[in-house]
Amino acid sequence: MAFNPNEFIEQSIEELKKLDGTAIIAVSGGVDSTVCAVLANSALGPKLKPIFVDTGFLRKGEVEQVKKVFKELGISIVIVEASKEFFACLKGVIDPEEKRKKIGGMFIRVFEKEAKHLNAKYLIQGTIAPDWIESGSGIRDTIKSHHNVGGLPTQMNLIVVEPIRDLYKDEVRAIAKELAVPKDPAWKQPSPGPGLAIRVIGEVTREKVALCREANAIVMDELFKAFEFGEMELPQQYFAVLLETKTTGVQGDVRAYGHTIAIRSVETKDLMTVEYSKIPHTVLHRISLRITNELKQINRVLYDVTHKPPATVEFE
Ligand code: XMP
Repeated sequence: MAFNPNEFIEQSIEELKKLDGTAIIAVSGGVDSTVCAVLANSALGPKLKPIFVDTGFLRKGEVEQVKKVFKELGISIVIVEASKEFFACLKGVIDPEEKRKKIGGMFIRVFEKEAKHLNAKYLIQGTIAPDWIESGSGIRDTIKSHHNVGGLPTQMNLIVVEPIRDLYKDEVRAIAKELAVPKDPAWKQPSPGPGLAIRVIGEVTREKVALCREANAIVMDELFKAFEFGEMELPQQYFAVLLETKTTGVQGDVRAYGHTIAIRSVETKDLMTVEYSKIPHTVLHRISLRITNELKQINRVLYDVTHKPPATVEFE
């Protein structure tokens, strides 16, 4: 039977109305958590407290973007600046799964602190089906413990509520449309909970995250321009990754030893399988020129031509 977004919205609001206390929700600005916040806000009104955590791993302009979206939705949010704590918890960590678990743990600590403050009983999360299926549901082996799922400490003081856990991305988008969630180019971009921390391969530092953030902004900007000029369709998900590999280059007539950026861009219906986007070479060339011109520490730009499987969307 075809998915009916309106039916889902009604049922979900009825379920959420049963929560008998204050609920906090971690909003990221992404479609999943925003949809959950709108549903929960309809059900709970002022009993819902949306929290946005600035981890330091956010994309360029993301804090402003999130503020704008929620202002348009008429929902007030609490912004918590916690980048110092997040960078500190990743010191020396290079394993992707450990990164997710540490970040997940830190998120929960931040929320628990806020929850205590607000006397909350529930934690609402925007987990969707691919998150828990790929995190090891018993049906499949763990591919990645997406932080919404795998990073949760077992001893939590909050009751976790996941209103959209059985939905796939296209279904969440259909609901977002019905709920009049504002759309803009960045809005179409799913960003993983751990943010740029899993797009900086290896150890995460403020400097590396800053480089990845700037390169990512160029990728987003150039692809959107190419879309506006009618050169290509906007891919489903696209971003920059800062690799661990440093390589040799030349700047002017001087030898340089700099960082490498990989561009990932994919087309998919459900994120379980993806195809890499066939971005025109002229567009890739413009991205490469801008990245290497504007970011002197980067002297090589690569394009990922791998489907999922075997590669996942994210590099980590
Ligand atoms: P993968 O890399 O598993 O990505 O093929 C599939 C989709 O999931 C997103 N993703 C995550 N989302 N926490 C999240 O909330 C995570 O740890 C995480 N890892 C991957 C990825 O961006 C893609 O949309």
